[in-house]
Amino acid sequence: MTTTHFLDVDDLSRTELLNTLDRAEELKAAEPSGQLADKTLAMLFEKESTRTRISFETGMTQLGGHAIFLSPDDTQLGRGEPLSDTARTLSRYVDAMMVRVFDHADAVEMAEYANVPVINGLTDDAHPCQTVADLLTIREEFGSFDVRAAWIGDGNNVAQSFVLGCAMVGIDLTVATPEGYGIEDSVLDRAAKFDGEIDVTTDPTEADAADVVYTDVWVSMGQEDERAEKLQAFEGFQLNQSLLDGQAVLHCLPAHRGEEITDRVLESDRALVWDQAENRLHAQNALLTTLID
Ligand code: CP
Ligand code: NVA
Repeated sequence: MTTTHFLDVDDLSRTELLNTLDRAEELKAAEPSGQLADKTLAMLFEKESTRTRISFETGMTQLGGHAIFLSPDDTQLGRGEPLSDTARTLSRYVDAMMVRVFDHADAVEMAEYANVPVINGLTDDAHPCQTVADLLTIREEFGSFDVRAAWIGDGNNVAQSFVLGCAMVGIDLTVATPEGYGIEDSVLDRAAKFDGEIDVTTDPTEADAADVVYTDVWVSMGQEDERAEKLQAFEGFQLNQSLLDGQAVLHCLPAHRGEEITDRVLESDRALVWDQAENRLHAQNALLTTLID
């Protein structure tokens, strides 16, 4: 049997994604159960995390299993043991691995060598667990996916997985990014296989027809050296009172208030960000119970 990995949203079929969302909704409404009793998740983090780490760890506890947090310094990875050897070794102990790494190719390599599911907890290219939580939040708020969404900001990891997720569930999405910071063509090609229509623009005001507007930081982890250049490029892309007109607002968090979003917008009733953060837990519990045997 081949192992099912979750490296990006379209590793699931459309039906599997919708089933995962239904399962997340059920798990959110249910008492925690012990369905992953005796199961262990290894969590490998090259980058910092609040939500991903705590939600996966709490999720495994709720499901009756166990999670092990590993930074590179806790393992022989920090002393140069190859990812391929690490993946094969961990596969002999644990039932799944969650990896947060810089280079997406490293997550792919882990998946190639692992014979337990590898779940992408964020790479420089993708953040699929976030997208499942985002879609759950949109469906909770609007009752369906018959909504128009907009992404305003960097065409980064969170944006790329969101583009795929929207396309898969049939949400029409406008993506407004500054010139040179757009979604990769290969991601747009993958999204084009599904029903949701994706429009790309460099004009953030074109997002005004949306029901829900999503943004993320302009300077992602690992891009600290590009800070000055990016702050300049993203001028005009801030979610603030003058750009918005009553739309619901999403942000994967952490937010940099005063950069991509104002404090006023983030603290307003229209911001769904705390439900969105909570939904990481339920979305991932659904994924864990689906992917782990
Ligand atoms: N949204 C998200 O992945 O947050 P963390 O970086 O805190 O895990
Ligand atoms: N784009 C951000 C997301 C953090 C959850 C980053 O990669 O730092």
